[in-house]
Amino acid sequence: MTRILVTGGAGFIGSNYVRMLLERGEDEVLNLDALTYAGNLENLAEVEDSPAYSFVKADIRDAERIQAIFEQHRPEVVVHFAAESHVDRSVLDATEFVQTNVVGTQVLLDAARRTGVTRFVHVSTDEVYGSLGDTGLFTEDSPLQPNSPYSASKTGSDLLVRAAYHTHGFDTVITRCSNNYGPYQFPEKLIPLMIANALEGKKLPVYGDGKNVRDWIHVRDHCEGVDVVRRRGQAGEVYNLGGNSERQNLQVVRGILELAGKGEELIEYVTDRPGHDRRYAIDASKVQAEFGWEPTMTFEQGLEETFRWYVDHRDWWERVRSGAYQDYYARNYGARLGG
Ligand code: NAD
Ligand code: DAU
Repeated sequence: MTRILVTGGAGFIGSNYVRMLLERGEDEVLNLDALTYAGNLENLAEVEDSPAYSFVKADIRDAERIQAIFEQHRPEVVVHFAAESHVDRSVLDATEFVQTNVVGTQVLLDAARRTGVTRFVHVSTDEVYGSLGDTGLFTEDSPLQPNSPYSASKTGSDLLVRAAYHTHGFDTVITRCSNNYGPYQFPEKLIPLMIANALEGKKLPVYGDGKNVRDWIHVRDHCEGVDVVRRRGQAGEVYNLGGNSERQNLQVVRGILELAGKGEELIEYVTDRPGHDRRYAIDASKVQAEFGWEPTMTFEQGLEETFRWYVDHRDWWERVRSGAYQDYYARNYGARLGG
């Protein structure tokens, strides 16, 4: 059994990853999470009683506390998901993004290295590569050209991870994945937001002309990819993960309306996101050639399954949409309407 410390395990991808590890039953998992608006222990209700699971509430910006937790628990491996993850929020205010994504990552790298962690898996994003034109794919050698405060802060964290490897010989690997969707995604991101709004008969706010392209991957496939890199990745290397499922936003939104049995009159074109990246698409041939990993779920299959999950878990998303979420929704969308 490996003692794995997962940061951000109460968030969307982190909770799916923790559940996957516990279902597999080969490792001990310590979930370290600050429980921000995006972190929710309800996401792990099915596995929280597992003897191989424990949770500690802590903020990765707090160096002293993080060092103490590493000394107490002595994890062998770290899988680092914790981050501020939503581009629109970083446009409204980048402060927390720099603090958590950049400073928090360095705090973790330092504590992990000092306490003898043998592998640090840094979960990053394809957004560090910037935006593509109509053709081409991001490879691991594409230049780093982040365009939003979110992606700039993730790029900063990637460079600190790279430096820990080159300067200190610390064993790190980085994954860069495309857009995830699936169960437990906070309904501020495109797919769960559009599903929830469609189910409530609310308008679906499409930014700009709706023709921006994302490469969608089911969260379970992403988690398998992170895990194969954790087990088999080479120290110091970067691995792209992608879904081979490029779709324009409008295609995604129309697919959701069809599943919900609603008409296109619910679509509302709103002012575009500032600095909106036009297209992301991933070349994941490195991880496929080296480890045989590839996504297993088609987008149509995954979208339908995800839609059903949100239908069946209405109480979950209605709860997380109450309170502070309402203020964010008003701040982000209030100014866009009529755009
Ligand atoms: P999320 O916003 O759903 O979850 C983030 C988690 O981190 C939450 O549980 C939150 O409580 C925790 N957290 C935030 N700040 C913290 C802090 N200071 N200390 C401790 N915990 C803190 O995010 P997600 O969508 O699950 O993304 C997870 C990771 O994967 C992020 O690093 C993100 O950049 C990366 N990623 C996401 C996607 C995607 O499509 N969602 C794609 C590629 C990469
Ligand atoms: O590519 C990986 C990244 O994908 C991750 O690193 C980020 O953490 C994750 O949030 C995601 O970023 P995006 O900005 O691509 O995802 P989002 O769901 O916010 O938006 C997807 C597309 O949909 C994007 O082109 C903007 C558009 N959009 C989004 C929202 C929330 C709309 O048109 N309307 C909306 O209301």
